[in-house]
Amino acid sequence: MSRETLEYHWGKHHRTYVENLNKQVVGTDLEGLSLEDIIIVTYNKGDILPAFNNAAQAWNHDFFWESMKPGGGGKPSGDLLDLIERDFGSFERFIEEFKSAAATQFGSGWAWLAYKANRLDVENAVNPWPSEKDKKLVIVKSPNAVNPLVWDYFNQRPDYISVFMEKLVSWETVNTRLEKAKARAAEREMEEERRRKEEEEGKPTNEEDDDDDLEMYVDNDNDDSEAE
Ligand SMILES: [Fe+2]
Repeated sequence: MSRETLEYHWGKHHRTYVENLNKQVVGTDLEGLSLEDIIIVTYNKGDILPAFNNAAQAWNHDFFWESMKPGGGGKPSGDLLDLIERDFGSFERFIEEFKSAAATQFGSGWAWLAYKANRLDVENAVNPWPSEKDKKLVIVKSPNAVNPLVWDYFNQRPDYISVFMEKLVSWETVNTRLEKAKARAAEREMEEERRRKEEEEGKPTNEEDDDDDLEMYVDNDNDDSEAE
């Protein structure tokens, strides 16, 4: 990744999202919340509030930087590799599907490897998207905005994605996220099991617990973020 690309996404995009978000939350109920909580609150059950896009894109960029390391790439190991082989057939097949999801994202956007319903899956989208229906935890993403392609590879998006997967991605970070995602999925299953039992026994369910089920998801097809 070139210095220009890094400076563009770090010094321009990321900075702008954070500064705009800071202006939007100052003096409001959002001030003092964590970034993830701001995303969930401003998603507002689908009736999006103004700060959502800045918050989600700031989160996107955080997540993106943390997904890379010098001398990254190669092949993952452990649980992550086992699950990739189980759910995609082979590591090579996963790379193919991931690159394809990134390359077919129209305009700016991101490709994601997500853990949902105890399986790994590949998606493309713009923002992390909280949803109560589609239980999904984001594990890794590729760079897929228009700008880095313009700066680095002049419309050769597949090459850019290949460099990310072969030389930059930190599989250690991805493995850590996977372990967290699995732990949260297991917790959620236990909580659901507990609720089912309570319902069967006729006890009133605690509605306030519902918010605990919200996670960060990626099913937004808006494309108003990185197309500067
Ligand atoms: Fe960016």
